[in-house]
Amino acid sequence: MSWGIKNRLARLIQPDGHCLFLPIDHGYFQGPTTKLEKPGETVKPLLSYCDAIFVTRGVLRSCIDTNSRTPIILRVSGGTSIIGADLANEGITTSVKEAIRLNASALGLSIFVGSQYEHQTLLNLAKLVDEAEEYGIPVMAVTAVGKELQKRDARYLALSCRIAAELGARVVKTYWCENFEKVVEGCPVPVVMAGGPRVDTEYEVFEFVSDGIQKGAIGVNLGRNIWKNDCPVSMIKSIRAIVHERATTKEANEMFESFKKEETR
Ligand code: 5RP
Repeated sequence: MSWGIKNRLARLIQPDGHCLFLPIDHGYFQGPTTKLEKPGETVKPLLSYCDAIFVTRGVLRSCIDTNSRTPIILRVSGGTSIIGADLANEGITTSVKEAIRLNASALGLSIFVGSQYEHQTLLNLAKLVDEAEEYGIPVMAVTAVGKELQKRDARYLALSCRIAAELGARVVKTYWCENFEKVVEGCPVPVVMAGGPRVDTEYEVFEFVSDGIQKGAIGVNLGRNIWKNDCPVSMIKSIRAIVHERATTKEANEMFESFKKEETR
């Protein structure tokens, strides 16, 4: 691994080996989704609690302060929309040169294993790894499922994660699922968990984050269950405690209740 790749990964993955990435890239196919209408405002109070943000170049350039010290994972795949024919039909949307200009610490791209666009999105990943690594930039693969949320089982996710790692991703983002250890064990590079659509209670989020970390995930890339919450700062601080301080589900929930009193005062 080159010095540049190691150094960039060290900006993202903290000395304890863990990380909390905050994705705000959802608009690249969902448009101005609820609570991300003004991404800069949504993310402002959260920036100091995350180890990186996952963002497109457009939102980065227009909504994020250039003085921000939070590392950037640049979303560089897209080309589809929620109302279009198929979310999986993605291409590479941003060049490596642009990523360097934007001082990105890593690039993120989705793969859609098992979809009609499996081949195309896997070749996108391989090509991006070739180009990005020439400049010392690591790539995070996103194992996307499009609208087919039922694909979130260990067998499918283990397959997707392993393929992403084989093609050169330095980090793989996937979903938590039952028997999550099977996903992590089959993947030779670090795995982070996305949150998916908002769940009913904070406790459920703490539960799956804690389970995933115990089963080997190095952290999270978790968005909607943080910034869609009415108390997003309390939420990110509590998740941070699980990821970086090994707080249990119960402890995180107690922390949330106490942070919430402060945030809603
Ligand atoms: C969306 C993404 C997101 O980065 C990912 O899904 C994590 O966000 P959430 O926790 O809201 O699912 O890749 O394109």
